[in-house]
Amino acid sequence: MTAAGEFLPYFLPAAFDPNLRPQTSAVIEPPPVLQAHGIYKSYQKDSLEVPVLRGVDLEVATGQITAMVGRSGSGKSTLMHLLATLDTPDSGEIRFNGRRIDNASRAERDAYRNRDIGVIFQFYHLLPELSAVENVLAPMMIGKSTWAYFKTRKQARLRAEAMLDRVGLLHRATHKPRELSGGEMQRTAIARSLMNAPSLLLADEPTGNLDAETGLEILKLLRGLNRDDGLTILMITHDDSIAATADSLQRMKNGITQGNRPRRIA
Ligand SMILES: Nc1ncnc2c1ncn2[C@@H]1O[C@H](COP(=O)(O)OP(=O)(O)O)[C@@H](O)[C@H]1O
Ligand SMILES: [Mg+2]
Repeated sequence: MTAAGEFLPYFLPAAFDPNLRPQTSAVIEPPPVLQAHGIYKSYQKDSLEVPVLRGVDLEVATGQITAMVGRSGSGKSTLMHLLATLDTPDSGEIRFNGRRIDNASRAERDAYRNRDIGVIFQFYHLLPELSAVENVLAPMMIGKSTWAYFKTRKQARLRAEAMLDRVGLLHRATHKPRELSGGEMQRTAIARSLMNAPSLLLADEPTGNLDAETGLEILKLLRGLNRDDGLTILMITHDDSIAATADSLQRMKNGITQGNRPRRIA
């Protein structure tokens, strides 16, 4: 077979040769920042296998807010733990910017968790003995020696204050969690998740424990972080009206995402 390039007139540059054109030239959109494909996960309970995720596919488009919606017990938090590499799937693949993370080395997974993603939860997970600003500082202290932290603590504190300011909570910096409202605790948790400048935020029921109005304020804050700071967000929720505010929506039912069929057990 003759290469197409051999038929090109000598004065045309090689770029006109269809054989030499990069295959990706037609792709304009950036690839999804996060992809999960064919995810299965079971828990072991008294020698019984309890299947929780039974075929989950997910794509989180760069620069968007993606919602994953499903009823309580459908496996959303289980999925979120896998996406955050806090647990590993039984089968399937999870990719961050095209790279496998589900089977990455421990060091790579630590780097992914500490640098690439931020995580927030329904129940905030703040440390009760620390003030809001100290809670926000906590991720910066992890993995550093006391001396390394001591050297950088002034900068770290300034950044923590800037993050509290970003979520509209600087005036509560020295308050302990018990002195904060639910919405304020969630803002503190969001500020903490931003501390290491992640590109992707994983939010598990971020408004699940708040009244409707406060929940809306948190949604507005997340939208602002997406629009103004370019943060990509995966928002996991049981609430259709919250999911409807996202740019795209994927549904999970009984551990299966829409369009998938459960694997038949032989
Ligand atoms: N550690 C565990 N051991 C056994 N079963 C679990 C465990 N964690 C979750 N499950 C079960 O998995 C199912 C899905 O739970 P979860 O992922 O928390 O759902 P959701 O977040 O959608 O409410 C539930 O039936 C729950 O009981
Ligand atoms: Mg949950």
